[in-house]
Formats: sequence, structure tokens, C-alpha cells
Amino acid sequence: MSEQLVIAQLGDPVLRQVARPIDNIQDDTIQRLIDDLLEILIASNGVGIAAPQVGVAYQLLIVASRPNLRYPHAPKMEPTAMINPQILSHSGEVVEDWEGCLSVPGIRGLVPRYRLIEIAYTNRQGQLVEQRLEDFVARIFQHEYDHLKGMVFLDRLKNVRNIITDQEYLSRMVPTQVLA
Ligand code: NI
Repeated sequence: MSEQLVIAQLGDPVLRQVARPIDNIQDDTIQRLIDDLLEILIASNGVGIAAPQVGVAYQLLIVASRPNLRYPHAPKMEPTAMINPQILSHSGEVVEDWEGCLSVPGIRGLVPRYRLIEIAYTNRQGQLVEQRLEDFVARIFQHEYDHLKGMVFLDRLKNVRNIITDQEYLSRMVPTQVLA
């Protein structure tokens, strides 16, 4: 991993930039950036990351759903790099759930997201892919997609009271674990 890659933290202007499209997917710099993002994601035990979070305002994100305490039935998927992603359509149905972010450590927020989305992106081989995402995976995508628009999950909160600390969030997970 390139040593200069650190996770941009809230307040860093790069998180507020609108990311540029990528037109040279096969270039070493882009392929290496994808590898670096994958490495950081695995090392941080995350389920998604976007290029602006490592200081590079390119339209590139990674979705890597896997089961966890809150979403025990979340699909386990190979981490997927999505280049120049778009939302083609979405459900009217919106659901709220807790989100955290590597760039906003220590807190969680209750964020409304579309439950179902149809997306298109170019994969790292340069092929155009269309996909339907739902529930947790759709949520991850929308969170990362926001990073490409210069937004973070805090911007989506209906009320600042919908913020809790990580410690409180984790304490709420315990009953779920016991009941499971
Ligand atoms: Ni994030």
C-alpha cells in the first residue's frame, strides 16, 4: 500500500469535492488505487469505501457487504470496485438505519436511504454492469455514492439528535446478539 494513503477525516476539503469521472480505467494509477482501497477496506474491517476518502476525488467506490451483528442476513459478496457509478432508478420506499463512516469516527447516525436501487457502473475490467441492490447493500452503495458528491451521512440526518456515539451504538447491539 502506498504510505501516503490515510483516511481523510471530516473537515478535510477533499470530502466536500465533487469527484471526477475516470476515463483511463486500465491505467496503472487507477488499478493501483483500486488495490489500495481494497487493502484499506479489509484492514479497517469496513463494508465500503470511496476514493475521496483517501484524498483522491475520482468516481470510484467499493462495496463489500458481509453479514454482521446488525444485518446477520446481509449477503457476503466479493469486494466490488464500481467506477463512474450511477443510480438509474430507486424505490419510493425509504428506510432509516444506523450508519458509521471511516471518515467520521466515533459516532453513528440514523440515515434514511432508498430500500431498492438500480445502478450502473463500470467494473475494473472496463465492462459496464447494471445491477439491482436492496436493503443493506443498497445502503452501503448510497453511502459511498454520496462521498462522490461531496456528501457525508451527517448531511442526510433528519435531526442532529439522530446521532449517537459508537459506544452507545455497540451497547445497543448486545441484546440482538443475545437474542440471535
Ligand atoms: Ni463513509
